[in-house]
Parts: sequence; structure tokens; C-alpha cells
Amino acid sequence: MKYIPVSFEMKDGRICEIREIQVKDAAETIEYLKTVMGESNFLYSYPEEITLTVEQEEKMIKGFNESEDILMIIAEIDGRLIASAQISRSKKLKMRHRGNVAVTVLKEFWNLGIGKKMLLCLEEYAKEWGLTQIELDYFSGNKRGQILYEKLGFVKVGEIPEAFILKDGTRYNNITMVKSI
Ligand SMILES: CC(C)(COP(=O)(O)OP(=O)(O)OC[C@H]1O[C@@H](n2cnc3c(N)ncnc32)[C@H](O)[C@@H]1OP(=O)(O)O)[C@@H](O)C(=O)NCCC(=O)NCCS
Repeated sequence: MKYIPVSFEMKDGRICEIREIQVKDAAETIEYLKTVMGESNFLYSYPEEITLTVEQEEKMIKGFNESEDILMIIAEIDGRLIASAQISRSKKLKMRHRGNVAVTVLKEFWNLGIGKKMLLCLEEYAKEWGLTQIELDYFSGNKRGQILYEKLGFVKVGEIPEAFILKDGTRYNNITMVKSI
């Protein structure tokens, strides 16, 4: 266990627990990923692209738990997985000061402060790792994400045009943001 769990009171008064993902969460994580990928156009996969078996997911989580370069945390209420977030850094010495972060929240729990809290947890962890900057990417059009990231002090540094083309032909750019910590 490399992350000490924290309790967080959401804007509606309910308490969720934020903790490092564990191998026992594998099956629920797969279902969670399928759900969130279907609830937002602003994530990299379609639900049908989540094809990992429980065994493969277990192996992946075990790898995360043992890695010094990846931390995946989840939020749960009454044992139900409602959000996840991840930070990773390169093994390459020249890039070891940088962390890449990402977060997802189940739609029914949007606007309750969880996304912000999860990113703040990762930022604290990044400081413990000794990182000096954290980075993220998001789809242009993801206004909700943009507001959250700007509130947290991330600054836009780049944009790849037409990085994503949805099944219906909608095109989005990839926007990169950085925050010095
Ligand atoms: C983007 C996402 C992670 C945000 O998570 P969330 O838990 O809903 O965000 P929060 O409740 O922490 O809100 C963060 C801030 O955004 C603001 N905000 C939230 N919803 C808003 C809205 N509809 N309009 C304007 N501002 C809004 C809030 O004011 C809040 O700031 P505050 O707490 O200082 O008031 C979540 O909507 C999500 O998972 N979306 C789908 C997947 C996704 O886009 N992930 C990001 C991929 S890059």
C-alpha cells in the first residue's frame, strides 16, 4: 500500500473514500470503465473497446500497485466505485520530474467536487514523488473538464488539431495543459 486512504465529504454531504485501487476491484473496474466510456464522448475509448478480462485487469492492477511510477486511486461510496484517477511518470531520467494525470467520475456523481478532490490528491502525491510539474490532455469541447483544470491552475500549452474523430464524424482537438507544482 503506497497511498494512505482519505475520506472526502462531497457537496451533497455524502462521504466517499479515496484509496489506491486493489486487485479485488478488477471486475468492478471493468464495468466502471465500460459505463464511463459510454457516458462521455471525451474519453479515449468506446465501451466496446474495453475488452480486458478480469484476469488481465487483475494483472494490470497488480502491476500498478508494484510500480513506483504509477498510482491509480479510486473513490467509493458504500463499496461502489464512483470515480478513478491516475498519475504516471516516465522511467527516463530526463522526464522524471513530470507526471501525467487523468480523472473520470460516474455521471450521476458529477458536480459534487470529486473530480477536483481526486486531482488534488494526485497533486499532493506528485509532490511526495518530487515532481515539479503535472500535465494532462483533454478533448476540445470538454468544457466541464476545462473549467475544472483551469480552476486548479493548469495552463494550456498546446493543441493537436483533429486528434479525435468520433463515429458520427465529430472532430475534436487534443489540448495539453501543464501545472507547475
Ligand atoms: C470532467 C470531470 C472529471 C469533472 O469531475 P466532477 O467531479 O464533475 O467535477 P467537480 O464537481 O470537482 O467540479 C470541478 C469544478 O468545476 C465547476 N463545475 C462543475 N460543473 C460545472 C458546470 N456544469 N458549469 C460550470 N462549472 C462547473 C465547479 O464549480 C467545480 O469547482 P468548485 O468545486 O471550485 O466549485 C467529470 O465531469 C467527468 O468524469 N467527465 C467525463 C470524463 C471526462 O471528461 N474526464 C476528463 C477527461 S480529460
